Amino acid sequence: MTTFDDHLDPGGRTTREPSTAASDHQTRHREVKTSSSRLPSGEEKRRIVQAMFDRIAARYQLLNTIMTFGLDRGWRRRVVEALELEPGARVVDIGSGTGDICNELERHGYRAIGADISWGMLFHGQQRSRTPSGRYSVLQADASALPLAASSVDGVTSAFALRNFSDLQGTLVEAARVLRPQGRICLLEVSTPSNAILRLCHRIYFTKVVPALGALLSDRSAYQYLPRSVAYLPEPRELMKIIFDSGFDLVERHVITGGVVQLFAARRNSARDPQDPNAA
Ligand SMILES: C[S@@+](CC[C@H](N)C(=O)[O-])C[C@H]1O[C@@H](n2cnc3c(N)ncnc32)[C@H](O)[C@@H]1O
Repeated sequence: MTTFDDHLDPGGRTTREPSTAASDHQTRHREVKTSSSRLPSGEEKRRIVQAMFDRIAARYQLLNTIMTFGLDRGWRRRVVEALELEPGARVVDIGSGTGDICNELERHGYRAIGADISWGMLFHGQQRSRTPSGRYSVLQADASALPLAASSVDGVTSAFALRNFSDLQGTLVEAARVLRPQGRICLLEVSTPSNAILRLCHRIYFTKVVPALGALLSDRSAYQYLPRSVAYLPEPRELMKIIFDSGFDLVERHVITGGVVQLFAARRNSARDPQDPNAA
């Protein structure tokens, strides 16, 4: 089930129901408080995240399918559908991992480039890539410093990578740099359901079942980190503002599957310089 949630007006202000916003805010504070040990940041985070994904790359897709009951495929399809670009458009997927979004992009007739810091993730994705046009292109690169020319792509996508980036705003500014004016960006991330019962079930599943499954089938510490990494995500309205300030307009947020995941979509604003968020 998908519900239109909120959008930013041209001045970068959100329009949203106050009750929902308050409940999100409280949820986020609880999440941050329950993280007992320190989460890494900056260069340390980058190194840890890269090594972790290299380690879990071989079984990453299998675990994803099991843990989401196969729903992840539909979520990624939603990202690609939300792009609404012309066939043949060039799209870079940042934090592309094993390439599920890239494969979906190619299936939709786009030309996909996957960019990721983890060589292991890129490698395992390429091994399994089955798209009508063959393999999509890959770049081993930090999403905050892409080896792509300014205005060289029509779209940017990302799935479940925002909370892993060590410089979120820098990454969004970089996305705006490589996007052509009026290009589209679509970002998928985990979220917390606003319904109290769903939220409780989701919390138990995400903090207890997911790490247990990860320990059983892959890497214990990586799948313990997964629920903790949610603390890196700004709350939805704040994240929409960051997207806007990074050089985008028409910022929208949609909640999917009862709020388990969220999709942000926006357009590259040709009137503003992403290096200077205060410019008119
Ligand atoms: C949870 S995985 C998501 C992979 C894929 N998008 C998907 O939907 O399955 C996050 C990915 O982000 C990548 N990543 C983390 N920090 C990055 C950075 N600074 N630049 C590029 N990729 C990064 C990781 O290596 C990992 O492959």
